[in-house]
Amino acid sequence: MAGALLYPLILLGLCILGLFAWILYLIFGPSQYDGSPAGSGTGLVSVHVLVLGDIGRSPRMTYHALSVAKHGGKVNLIGYLETSPHPDVVNNPNITLNPIPAPPRKPDSLPFLLFAPWKVLYQVYHLFFLLAYTLEPAQWILVQNPPSIPTLAIASLICQLRNTKLMIDWHNYGWTILASTRGPRHPLVRISKLYECLFGRLGSFHLTVTHAMARQLRRAPYSIKREMLPVHDRPAAIFRPVSSPSARESILQRVLPAEKGLVPRILDGSMRLIVSSTSWTPDEDFSILLDALTRYASAAGGLTPILAVITGKGPQKEMYLERIAELTRAGRLPNVRIVTAFLPFPDYAALLACADLGICLHMSSSGVDLPMKVVDMFGAGLPVAAYSGYESFGELVKEGSNGRGFKTAEELAEILARLLSPEGQTELETLRRGAVREGSRRWDEEWDAKVGVIMGLTT
Ligand SMILES: *[C@@H]1O[C@H](CO)[C@@H](O)[C@H](O)[C@H]1NC(C)=O
Repeated sequence: MAGALLYPLILLGLCILGLFAWILYLIFGPSQYDGSPAGSGTGLVSVHVLVLGDIGRSPRMTYHALSVAKHGGKVNLIGYLETSPHPDVVNNPNITLNPIPAPPRKPDSLPFLLFAPWKVLYQVYHLFFLLAYTLEPAQWILVQNPPSIPTLAIASLICQLRNTKLMIDWHNYGWTILASTRGPRHPLVRISKLYECLFGRLGSFHLTVTHAMARQLRRAPYSIKREMLPVHDRPAAIFRPVSSPSARESILQRVLPAEKGLVPRILDGSMRLIVSSTSWTPDEDFSILLDALTRYASAAGGLTPILAVITGKGPQKEMYLERIAELTRAGRLPNVRIVTAFLPFPDYAALLACADLGICLHMSSSGVDLPMKVVDMFGAGLPVAAYSGYESFGELVKEGSNGRGFKTAEELAEILARLLSPEGQTELETLRRGAVREGSRRWDEEWDAKVGVIMGLTT
């Protein structure tokens, strides 16, 4: 008898719970966006631009925000406030900064697998309340991927709750980045791949950084069917060419005070200046450049001396500094001087404009992203020698037009020997003109014609 009553009672209990939840949702649930549809010309277009990273170091999301604001849209820019954001963002009346609290730091004693869920819950809590309650509902949420956990899930939930449209800006994949540090078979890599494929499909619109990435997102396992547009990155205004020798001289003396004595030689071409910025991480194999420079230095006949300036901070820096010191002591780097620097942004931009060749060691974890540093080098009119072993490489670096690709240290050493020699100056000059041309293409044109139209801000 008791058994016969059990199931109806459970059912009744569930119904009451459901009803209760529904009432709670009606009373406390977030409000919905009820503005006019995009493009109708009435009502302000409002966009929440969301990145689970430092706003100051998220140039692409910064440009999205500035573009929306420029066309009269109202922007809430959401992310961490670690470094100072772009001054145009701070002073823009149409952009509101919404900092999210920095995530807790991992105590050394806690294993990663226990800490990660705690960190995610912390982020879920803050993001949910900000997006569901603190902010007014928006017409669009534009979210950067990666990081994807938990932003993709939260953003798609909020869009359901608040009648907002979700636009995902694919910069790369979270799972391939994770796989490059934890190994492809790590359980977290599998989970995050599944997660990204699943929530990726919920976006009603998709932007990608390359055509190759858009093609890939159409295929399994992503299988995204919604509209998708590649929008290539463009250099910030701060990166621009410098042509007058006197400007070059004063920049070099200011930016590299310790190398002042070498500046006249760089200016008259009896020494070549190459610049590389690296994150000193395993996914940018710095040993390729070091190996290439050692080969260059040992070449018979005495090639043009090189000053190599390496900028950036990162975990493997100390290790490589020791190796450089060892090689120098052993006399294996004659005619090559390697210095490291961590420069303020404007100085870095000015240095690029004064160099002879930029070196990029970026090895795409997904195969379909592109290194922003090469975009910036082109903005400064600097041709590049860049690692070329991935699918999307040719969308940015055009062989023989604005740069040269290499896959091994041997190939890089050959490129250096050719382009930095007196005979290579015609080729280098051609590449430089190509770099200036590529770098002069602007973000605004591309954005206004593509994203602005979709958001109903431009026609
Ligand atoms: C802010 O939006 C208004 C229109 O609402 C526009 O005229 C103005 O140019 C925008 N300001 C900036 C700095 O983008």
